[in-house]
Amino acid sequence: MSTRPISRVGIIGLGAIGKRVLDALQRDHLPAAAYAAIDHAAHPEAFVREHRLEVFDDVRRLIAWKPDLVVECAGHSAVVETVPTLLRAGVDVVIASIGALADKSISDALDAAAHAGNARLILVSGAIGGLDALRSARAAGLDKVVYVGRKPPRAWAGSPAEEAFDLGAISQPTTIFRGSAAEASIRFPKNANVTAAVALSGVGFEATQVELVADPGVDRNVHEVQAAGSFGDLSIRLANNPLPDNPRTSWLAALSIEEAVSKQLQSLVF
Ligand SMILES: NC(=O)c1ccc[n+]([C@@H]2O[C@H](COP(=O)([O-])OP(=O)(O)OC[C@H]3O[C@@H](n4cnc5c(N)ncnc54)[C@H](O)[C@@H]3O)[C@@H](O)[C@H]2O)c1
Repeated sequence: MSTRPISRVGIIGLGAIGKRVLDALQRDHLPAAAYAAIDHAAHPEAFVREHRLEVFDDVRRLIAWKPDLVVECAGHSAVVETVPTLLRAGVDVVIASIGALADKSISDALDAAAHAGNARLILVSGAIGGLDALRSARAAGLDKVVYVGRKPPRAWAGSPAEEAFDLGAISQPTTIFRGSAAEASIRFPKNANVTAAVALSGVGFEATQVELVADPGVDRNVHEVQAAGSFGDLSIRLANNPLPDNPRTSWLAALSIEEAVSKQLQSLVF
């Protein structure tokens, strides 16, 4: 497979991740490329000038600008609103919000659009890693994949756990959800990207078991995966530091997108 030249990059969503990715691409990977963005929020004139950005308010205008690659770092709604149109127009897209694929109708629409446009939809591992081993192992059959997500109790505020538990009073690791990845994606949308990364790498949304834990013993978001199958068994554990500009987002998620884009430029791919 030969690499396609990338000289025009579009970014959808210039929040904590989008800005990090833009900085890294302009500084380290594609300093000579042209950049364009779509974001619901307005950005200061000085920021737009400093980053030599074209700003569009509509995906059709972005397509007319002829991007070689578009990176989505905006959220699930952006995946639905913009990504099928980009793929159908033949534009490769890297997406951060892979939890959107938990909805089969969205996943099917993305797949059909990628085929119609002969374009690639590139999913990132995001805040979780080590999944290359899971993806390799599944060819020989996986018996079980379990994902456990641990956060400090207060980090589950705003989730269904808040109604069922007094989060401030939790003093022992407490399971706040146990079920399938399909159910977890719907009930805990803030965890949906990591849940989807595990489900899509292994046995799918219905068969992947998910346990979510309010754990006063952790001070960061911790992701654990246990899997067993013909290959043997594996355990993965990540304890993620947050991005300095968004405490709700793992630093690794931004780094994962940066790596996914840089891979598109390499002829030696690992
Ligand atoms: N795969 C992972 O592990 C992982 C981890 C963290 C975040 N994410 C995804 O990345 C996204 C961005 O994360 P962040 O920390 O940068 O969030 P953020 O809130 O800091 O930034 C999101 C930006 O996107 C813009 N936006 C939102 N909806 C949009 C739309 N429909 N069209 C255009 N712009 C839109 C917002 O105005 C904002 O500037 C998250 O929503 C999440 O889905 C994935």
